Amino acid sequence: MASRSTVVTGAGRGLGRAMALGLLEAGHNVIAIDRDPQELAALEHAAKRGGQVACLAVDLTLSDSAKSILAFAEQKFGPVACLVNCAGIGQEIISATFATEPVKFWTVGEDIWKLIFAVNADAVFRLCAAVTPGMIARGWGRIINVTTSLETMIRPGMSPYGPAKAANEALSAIMAKDLQGTGVTVNVLVPGGPAATRMMPGFVDTAPEKLISPDVMVPPIVWLLSKASDGVTGQRFRANAWKADMDPVEAARVSGAPAAWPGLAGGAAQANYAPKQSA
Ligand SMILES: NC(=O)c1ccc[n+]([C@@H]2O[C@H](COP(=O)([O-])OP(=O)(O)OC[C@H]3O[C@@H](n4cnc5c(N)ncnc54)[C@H](O)[C@@H]3O)[C@@H](O)[C@H]2O)c1
Repeated sequence: MASRSTVVTGAGRGLGRAMALGLLEAGHNVIAIDRDPQELAALEHAAKRGGQVACLAVDLTLSDSAKSILAFAEQKFGPVACLVNCAGIGQEIISATFATEPVKFWTVGEDIWKLIFAVNADAVFRLCAAVTPGMIARGWGRIINVTTSLETMIRPGMSPYGPAKAANEALSAIMAKDLQGTGVTVNVLVPGGPAATRMMPGFVDTAPEKLISPDVMVPPIVWLLSKASDGVTGQRFRANAWKADMDPVEAARVSGAPAAWPGLAGGAAQANYAPKQSA
């Protein structure tokens, strides 16, 4: 690996914070991105072992955010080798009781639709597009997108979060194919169910034992961002199904499946839509 410079978005809290700390411990230099400067300061304080951390408070919905992140990252730790898109917002910004009283799609204003897509889909596209050319030029790179379970994408009451994560998942599958043969891989990592974070209000305080610990993300993310996972691309991994005591190749096989919904694409449709290869 040319560099251990790793951008983690949403690093201030929850799954992103757990992954940032785990990656630091594994020796990555982490560029921690979040909109909340106080959470970033707390992360910096907690980061005791391994690589170095540099924090940047930025709102990922701003169109110049990717440019600022790339410039900051390169100045701190050199070319970006790995990108983890973890920042997200969901139905909790509409209703604290969304899990028990589903939000009907027609009650959600277009401003909320756009905001949830801006964080969960637009910002992911923007950052991926910004880091990819450099990764291709260096012949190595890693992109990990945190989407959600396939059930959540289509569960009643989960619009616009479900559709925004579905867009992210489809983008991840396409990027993995567009990047075939470049040394840059794209995979999806999800906790595998509801996790104990701010996104699950109502449960995180009352029934935390029913929720997945954010720490389950650490063993898979460390392996997925390592040289050992060269060639693994276009997959989605469920962190709670990853057995940390197993050989990582076997753990990846057990917890992984192709990203998105390839089973729904019929052979004829694939042939019709396959772009013609130029000579
Ligand atoms: N908690 C779950 O059950 C669960 C399940 C599946 C997937 N996820 C996904 O995991 C990811 C992490 O979520 P979490 O559960 O840790 O939630 P969280 O709210 O604890 O963390 C999300 C982080 O993203 C940051 N963020 C949000 N909008 C931002 C913006 N515009 N600019 C910069 N930073 C921004 C927040 O400040 C926060 O620190 C999300 O993408 C979420 O959709 C969560």
